[in-house]
Amino acid sequence: MPEADHGKDAKDFHLDIPAQNRPFFLKGAGALDWGMQNRFARIFDPGSGHTVMLAIDHGYFQGPTTGLERVDVNIVPLLPHCDALMVTRGILRTSIPPAFGRGVVLRASGGPTVLKELSNEEIAVDIEDACRLNVAALAVQVFVGGEGETASVHNMTRLVDAGLRHGVPVLAVTAVGKDMVRDAKYFRLACRVCAELGAQFVKTYYIAEGFDTVVASCPVPIIMAGGKKQPELDALTMAYNAIDQGAAGVDMGRNIFQSDAPIAMLQAVRKVVHEKMKPREAHELYVSLKKRPGPRT
Ligand code: R5P
Repeated sequence: MPEADHGKDAKDFHLDIPAQNRPFFLKGAGALDWGMQNRFARIFDPGSGHTVMLAIDHGYFQGPTTGLERVDVNIVPLLPHCDALMVTRGILRTSIPPAFGRGVVLRASGGPTVLKELSNEEIAVDIEDACRLNVAALAVQVFVGGEGETASVHNMTRLVDAGLRHGVPVLAVTAVGKDMVRDAKYFRLACRVCAELGAQFVKTYYIAEGFDTVVASCPVPIIMAGGKKQPELDALTMAYNAIDQGAAGVDMGRNIFQSDAPIAMLQAVRKVVHEKMKPREAHELYVSLKKRPGPRT
């Protein structure tokens, strides 16, 4: 028998305060279940509503990419500076300390390597293993207009179904074939298809013309993809423009870990994404942090 509750007369039911019903902070996520919203809150900062994801999943199709030769040496020191990590389960289990407390976005598709047609992917992770790893989201490549278009869309929808059963959101990554036109019309199509078919957030490339229309026509958060390494000021400018035009965050890999000072670059990107620091100012910050002594800064 539980002990009797003797404090009955002292209880305060705050009868004058209506029950709080706070809307979830993320676009398109209001109707998701508690578990899925909780996982999103491990990826996105509930304060700014934005995220700086660090992408290190390149090895799943191109092997030991420059900067990722030794994740334990090169990447682990960066972890305290990102909001979420995009990674494969092989690298997660072997090289990422389980004490990493932020969101893990698990690469969940794969198959072909750079030696073959890349759009021929399949689902590469079971939802049970994703839950065992306690990941915050699953990431899947979607090749709209590519050779493997239908199969990759089906990979995504199957992961969305599995994710909904377990409360795990799915990040659709719009992959663009080498010869395809990268314009607003294409990205509006690709992002909208992913959202319509159930992806809870979408990663896509920034484009100079019409990125705001890509964001506006996609009912779920858009994460800006990093792409190939650029000079730091250009990468910071791209991140600024994407956030300014409505992106909910960035997922950058080579522009971070191939920088001369990855931690300094990550800190500068954070200022842009979370505080809307102007690109020049963020670049000055990068330069000053780079000069400071310390691990790879
Ligand atoms: C490819 O599409 C993958 O998502 C990547 O392996 C990775 O996330 C790309 O990152 P970044 O282009 O910023 O180096």
